[in-house]
Amino acid sequence: MIADLLVRNATLPDGRAGVDVLAAGGRIVNVSQRIDATAAQTVDARGQLLAPPFVDAHFHMDATLSYGLPRVNRSGTLLEGIALWGELKPLLTQDAIVERALAYCDWAVAKGLLAIRSHVDVCDPRLLAVEALLHVKERVRPYLDLQLVAFPQDGVLRSPGALDLLKRALTMGVDVVGGIPHFERTMADGAESVRLLCEIAAEQGRLVDMHCDETDDPHSRHVETLAMHTLRLGMQGRVTGSHLTSMHSMDNYYVSKLIPLMREAGVAAVANPLINITIQGRHDTYPKRRGMTRVPELMAAGIDVAFGHDCVMDPWYALGSGDMLEVAAMGLHVAQMTGQDAMRACFDAVTVNAAKILHLDGYGIAPGNRADFVLLQARDPVEALRLRATRLMVFRAGRLVAQTPAATAALHVPGRPGSVDWSLGR
Ligand code: FE2
Repeated sequence: MIADLLVRNATLPDGRAGVDVLAAGGRIVNVSQRIDATAAQTVDARGQLLAPPFVDAHFHMDATLSYGLPRVNRSGTLLEGIALWGELKPLLTQDAIVERALAYCDWAVAKGLLAIRSHVDVCDPRLLAVEALLHVKERVRPYLDLQLVAFPQDGVLRSPGALDLLKRALTMGVDVVGGIPHFERTMADGAESVRLLCEIAAEQGRLVDMHCDETDDPHSRHVETLAMHTLRLGMQGRVTGSHLTSMHSMDNYYVSKLIPLMREAGVAAVANPLINITIQGRHDTYPKRRGMTRVPELMAAGIDVAFGHDCVMDPWYALGSGDMLEVAAMGLHVAQMTGQDAMRACFDAVTVNAAKILHLDGYGIAPGNRADFVLLQARDPVEALRLRATRLMVFRAGRLVAQTPAATAALHVPGRPGSVDWSLGR
């Protein structure tokens, strides 16, 4: 039998070098030092890093690429972003959402990003965005896993009819239960929303991913409530708290109780470094808080932590290109995770950790898994982060889906080499 694909001489993220990877029928069938086989396509990795695809654990695909519609966010705050999205919502059409989402998925695939968990706003009686993204999910399925979260942007209790709309979205095919307790009118309502939403998820056997405590208020403690209901309902390992930025501002003594509770409940955490560093601390003068949750401390406690992109060119964020290495590099800087192991952990936060949080099946470069991987122009994960490495080739189920020429510059300097690629002696 001739296999589909043979990648020779790759380096894997765990440091194994000189590795060959063989794929057939869309699956990885062998990963070892020297594979004796022929394949329809053979790629010489030349010792470069072959990584499993990037995974974005937190995104908003219904809003993406809408920057400037109908106007830009002047204050740069979360609350003006939500108000702006409210102005845009009645003007949205399904075609426009689909078109922008598909365009973003193109960008993602070209950056080796092959799985995205996207929240979709259900606070719209037409459920326009839900219909649009369910359509997109099917359209992109051959090359990208899109997981959808029913997200009551305006508050499941605060927004009339939101609870019914959320349930309808789940019936229509949305996967995960979302929430936004810190946006409810009171702390008590926030806590009540967490109870209600966790119970819906438990009844229906769904995963939970809530926007939680996305504020600089150190007293916003809904993640505690989320962990408590996770334990009460036996949902350990199935619940994620996204953002958790109030943890940045919390009292250390309280955090010393909170993190073990999250660990006990198996609640995962998603930080969104690009957004948290720009949106949080806006009410501060100086010193200005960074606002990202306590990533190294959560990781040290054994909690699954991923970095999400959250936004690309939307009411909250003007920049971005679907580059999860940019996301991880920002997370690394904001969290001061500069040690070798810490930098590798930042790479994991946009690959394996995120895949675990999404409960992705068959992820990773190992026999039996789907033959999804990215060949990077880098020797190891740290160099990939440093260079925001070029995605030389992106494979989905053993098929090449994107390709980018190697980054190199011609140099016209007397007495120096004719070109440079920013590597050390490759
Ligand atoms: Fe978000």
